[in-house]
Amino acid sequence: MTQPTARDAALPTPVQRWSASDYAKNGRFVQEFAGPIFRLLGAKPGERILDLGCGDGALTAEIKALGADVVGVDLSDELLAVARMKGLNVRKVDGHALDFVSEFDAVFTNAALHWMRKPKLVIAGVARALRPRGRFVGEFGGHGNVAAIATAIRAVGALRGSDPAATAPWFFPTTEEYGRLLAEGGFTVKEIALVPRPTPLKTGMEGWLRTFGRSFFDQFPEPERSEVVGEVIELLRPSLSDTRGQWTADHIRLRFFAERAA
Ligand code: BEZ
Repeated sequence: MTQPTARDAALPTPVQRWSASDYAKNGRFVQEFAGPIFRLLGAKPGERILDLGCGDGALTAEIKALGADVVGVDLSDELLAVARMKGLNVRKVDGHALDFVSEFDAVFTNAALHWMRKPKLVIAGVARALRPRGRFVGEFGGHGNVAAIATAIRAVGALRGSDPAATAPWFFPTTEEYGRLLAEGGFTVKEIALVPRPTPLKTGMEGWLRTFGRSFFDQFPEPERSEVVGEVIELLRPSLSDTRGQWTADHIRLRFFAERAA
């Protein structure tokens, strides 16, 4: 097993702020599309499971409903407050610095790892948190995910002299890259694939951008922010909106199932 080095920790991590109400309105697809990884996780009653990047706890609650003893971790105070109101056991912990030791049967993660740009630290913490032969199961943005959206943001950001560190700051690896990181971190990779998943956006592209693109858009004060959002939308319209005005996000998921060494 390869240990992370100081270089692995060096990359700055941009701060993404979340609004619980925006997330509930514009991000519900995150929960609606989780069926395949839920089945891959195969949670059983009595199992102890960590939900890494639990957000507002929508999926944490579903794992709990299966009879598992589930702990959620996230960095957003606002989303954690909503999860607590649902009666869930959640804690504020950075996914790069998980502090659990050999206590989980499985670590589950959905739509969170693309925010964690130091994957070796994350994988090392997951390996530490799992019991021998524990499962690490999840899905996040893979190589090519939101390529059109990220390109439009970069184009508008370059014209506006934006902060490059906050411009589309996501980790979208190939299966080869992430599979190698998992293997180096002490995991046997049982399944790993890129899954194209065009996602209809019920609240349009503006809802997506204002919810998931805040690390970029928040650097602009209003009314400039609304102009910048409008420019990104107009660049995207020919590719991601159909003739009836229905928007679809160009999501590509990296789905994986790995097992910690015995
Ligand atoms: C995604 O779910 O694919 C995603 C979310 C936030 C930023 C970028 C991508």
